[in-house]
Amino acid sequence: MKIAIGSDHAGVKLKEIIKSAFKDIDFTDVGTYNEDSCDYPDYIGRVAREVISGSSEKGIAICGTGIGASITANKFPGIRAALCTNCFMAEMSRRHNDSNVLVLGARVLGDDLAIKIVQTWLDTPFEGGRHQRRLDKVAAIEKSFAAK
Ligand code: RB5
Repeated sequence: MKIAIGSDHAGVKLKEIIKSAFKDIDFTDVGTYNEDSCDYPDYIGRVAREVISGSSEKGIAICGTGIGASITANKFPGIRAALCTNCFMAEMSRRHNDSNVLVLGARVLGDDLAIKIVQTWLDTPFEGGRHQRRLDKVAAIEKSFAAK
């Protein structure tokens, strides 16, 4: 599976930990690559673009709290980014919301929990059915605001 992964400076360490923990995943690491202060929209935008273009099936976006990354990723059409702080949220974000970007807060989560959240998110399928109807309504809202 191809997964785009990106973070700001606050998420670099967790990004590396996740890449090391999931050796079987084909990660496209869009940066940042060091702990010099940077702006999360620059890197989270790259994750979103990778997913929208189809270059990556899904994305993982990391910042300090996950909030800035979540706000940024959800500005991109077609992105359903889910900020998850536990495995239940990760599971439900896949089953009910078909999340295509997992957002993590590096300053919120311990490394072991973050890895469990990623594993759960990767392992859980979308249920479709009534949940697809709801996502179609979300997409219709997005489309209604799209530039003409
Ligand atoms: C960076 O200091 C921090 O503001 C950022 O990583 C993130 O938490 C923003 O939402």
